[in-house]
Amino acid sequence: VLLGVDIGTSGTKTIAIDPTGKLLGQASASYPCHHPKPLWSEQDPADWRDATFKTIRAVVKKAKLKPADVRAIGLSGQMHGSVFLDKSDEVIRPALLWNDQRTAAECDEIESRAGGRKKLIKMVANPALTGFQAPKILWLRNNEPRNFARLKQVLLPKDYVRLQLTGESATEVSDASGTLLLDVVKRKWSKPLLTKLDLDPALLPKCYESEEATGTLLPAVAKKLGLSTDCIVVGGAGDCAAGAVGNGVVQRGVVNSSLGTSGVVFCHSDTPEYDPDGRLHTFCHAVHGKWHMMGVTLSAAGSLQWFADELCHGPGGKPVPFDKLVEEAAATPAGADGLFFLPYLAGERTPHADPLARGAFVGLTQSHNRGHLVRAVLEGVTYSLRDCLDIMTGLGVSAKEVRATGGGAKSEFWRQLQADMFGARVAAMAADEGPAFGVALLAAVGAGEYSSIAEACSATVATTSTCKPALKQRRFYDRGVEVYRSLYRSLKDDYR
Ligand code: XUL
Repeated sequence: VLLGVDIGTSGTKTIAIDPTGKLLGQASASYPCHHPKPLWSEQDPADWRDATFKTIRAVVKKAKLKPADVRAIGLSGQMHGSVFLDKSDEVIRPALLWNDQRTAAECDEIESRAGGRKKLIKMVANPALTGFQAPKILWLRNNEPRNFARLKQVLLPKDYVRLQLTGESATEVSDASGTLLLDVVKRKWSKPLLTKLDLDPALLPKCYESEEATGTLLPAVAKKLGLSTDCIVVGGAGDCAAGAVGNGVVQRGVVNSSLGTSGVVFCHSDTPEYDPDGRLHTFCHAVHGKWHMMGVTLSAAGSLQWFADELCHGPGGKPVPFDKLVEEAAATPAGADGLFFLPYLAGERTPHADPLARGAFVGLTQSHNRGHLVRAVLEGVTYSLRDCLDIMTGLGVSAKEVRATGGGAKSEFWRQLQADMFGARVAAMAADEGPAFGVALLAAVGAGEYSSIAEACSATVATTSTCKPALKQRRFYDRGVEVYRSLYRSLKDDYR
């Protein structure tokens, strides 16, 4: 039996599978995200640790697992976040997350210390973006010097949980790519950039390939979880690479699209490939010795969540379920009668790299109802994925088949909307367990059940239904996307 744990932004999900990929049990637990100031986004690492322990215990119980049954655990999680630890491994302050936008000045500082954007890209394959980890470390140094003086180690979210499980400080190449401190081509920490940033390499953990064992469970932890001290914890992967593995996107030809809090369009690369304008990220894949490119929109299903939380309450103040909202959207015409939504609630990464971008509804009339608003949200988020996909196909990546994952992909309406906007077939996955499934497969490889990730995927991953693009809708959205793009251009200077 293999466990996969995904430490997401809205909650943690743990699954147990057998080596054929059959789901034996699953559990999830949610926790809050804090926004103490505009543009700030923080979480308490203790919440991730507690949710991981709670969900592993629940799965062990549900699937009636004995300690010797579970051979390996894979960890996945939200990328880029910074857990700042002191010499006793105590958390110094709340973690800064991937969608935190406070580090614009530090991104400029990194580019200038690196000798310019081109030199930076040469060292770490990517430009400095506010969500990445390195600018967060510089932010701590520039703004909280007392906290910085205590700093002994910086970990990514899932790697903090690994430390709690195994006592080991370790990461793996896919998530490490999102720190901006990894030489993505060589798959090891970039000493030249660390020197230029005046950061001690000892702050960073040991970096593995994703399927490699990074340690075993600590005795007290094994006991608490009902597992064995022989159980290994493999490197795992950042949630984007893990989701792609779970969908079998481990070679060229199929593109992955994910609609979670963030939205991600992802393709596999056999060699490091770049968007010359730096709008897509070039990171290591969780496939040994391979890479990937991806575009990221910061508020995808997160936009719908915001809309539901803030604006939709039924009788007694109860939240209106997503299904009901999507049903209302489906009952309104394509284009929501001229209503557009820009999903930039947390600024935007791809394609704008603009922390100050803002969300907007544009084109409201008194005849618009809630269904129109929801439809505009779903269309706006999907346009933002189309922005990512168009950059990718512009670089020569074929996207005839897209595999959909994430909470938003559970809706057939939203998958069809993707098919129509992308002009591509959009497949749903048979076992849509997301990143947790991907890292459970990495655990299977680490435990020796398969000799490679590609082999694990071909044995366990299958698609179910496929949405085909409707030509008329495709044409309609080809015109719509131009309006959508022009709205950002018109509004962006007014936000500043
Ligand atoms: C990827 C990114 C997000 C988070 C969300 O670059 O920032 O997708 O990983 O969990």
